[in-house]
Amino acid sequence: MTQQPAPRAPRRGLDRTGPFDLGDKVQLADSKNRLHTITLKPGGQFHTHRGVLEHDQLIGAEDGVVVEDNRGTRYQALRPLYSDYMLSMPRGAAIIYPKDAAQILMWGDIFPGARVLEAGVGSGGLTTALLRAVGADGSVHSIERREDFAEVARENVETFFGAPHPSWDLSIGDFQDVAPALNPDGPAVDRVVLDMLAPWECVDAAAEVLVSGGVFLAYVATVTQLSRTAEALRDHGEFTEPHGWESFVRPWHLEGLAVRPEHRMNAHTGFLLTSRRTAHGARALTRVSRPAPGSRDEEELTDPANDGFGGSTSEWGPQDVGERGVAPRKLKRALRDIRQGRDR
Ligand SMILES: C[S@@+](CC[C@H](N)C(=O)[O-])C[C@H]1O[C@@H](n2cnc3c(N)ncnc32)[C@H](O)[C@@H]1O
Repeated sequence: MTQQPAPRAPRRGLDRTGPFDLGDKVQLADSKNRLHTITLKPGGQFHTHRGVLEHDQLIGAEDGVVVEDNRGTRYQALRPLYSDYMLSMPRGAAIIYPKDAAQILMWGDIFPGARVLEAGVGSGGLTTALLRAVGADGSVHSIERREDFAEVARENVETFFGAPHPSWDLSIGDFQDVAPALNPDGPAVDRVVLDMLAPWECVDAAAEVLVSGGVFLAYVATVTQLSRTAEALRDHGEFTEPHGWESFVRPWHLEGLAVRPEHRMNAHTGFLLTSRRTAHGARALTRVSRPAPGSRDEEELTDPANDGFGGSTSEWGPQDVGERGVAPRKLKRALRDIRQGRDR
């Protein structure tokens, strides 16, 4: 008798709850919290040097059960969360950290039904988060300049959702060229989300496609990128005053009386920058005084030797870094206080 091939597990998305089923990914944690992720297959086995666990023990079991292998090693079995999937997804380009993706959804104001334009797609980490947030009535259009990265992203997104996502489109090319071509009839994008090297090059195209009041959000790794993007938004004239920040998440160790911050944390991931598109044709109200005039010196910014760094041949003053400087009166007062203290 010829052996029949095992039936293929149905492909399904990872966004679900309920008892474990064929095709589900399951995260097994041992008593030392070492993690292993398996995909449930008919007749499948999970082998370690300690023993063998049959997939059948998990199929139909409740999410969160504790199972034992043939040598008595116990595992807590849980369906992975999106943050687990995001951190472990195979990648070409670096992905966004869950803490930053969470901030993007809130401060980029990604709402159910939103029409989001994203670039670059990288490994598809953020794309998946955006797709979950816009829901069935929204749309995410991702633009990626590298075909090889786009392919990895497509695989990651389809693996997560279990099939091509009906609300997702992916175009190859540069945001600056593709975004306006996708919207020939005028602005039809609610949110623009950029995670790339040079978002300042995309400000004009973003302004063209964003609806009035739409949100522009950029995620960048360095202060120079942050500054250039902020200045490009100001120079455009139809964006509100940019708001920039970074976030720190410090995990805590929780054991008995030893309740303290963990010794290690990710000190830096990136900076976030948001701004609103003003009504088309309406110039933004500008601040009365703007800091760091040195950073806006046209000659300096366009000097190829200073590309991205500003720089100056004249002496830098406090105003170049947004400070007011020290008034002579204040120095006099400081000297008086020192001398009076010395004589006391
Ligand atoms: C850091 S990765 C994005 C990671 C992604 N957010 C994720 O979570 O997986 C930056 C990507 O932007 C792409 N890129 C850079 N400039 C671009 C542009 N002007 N238009 C489209 N894609 C661009 C790069 O090829 C790269 O894949």
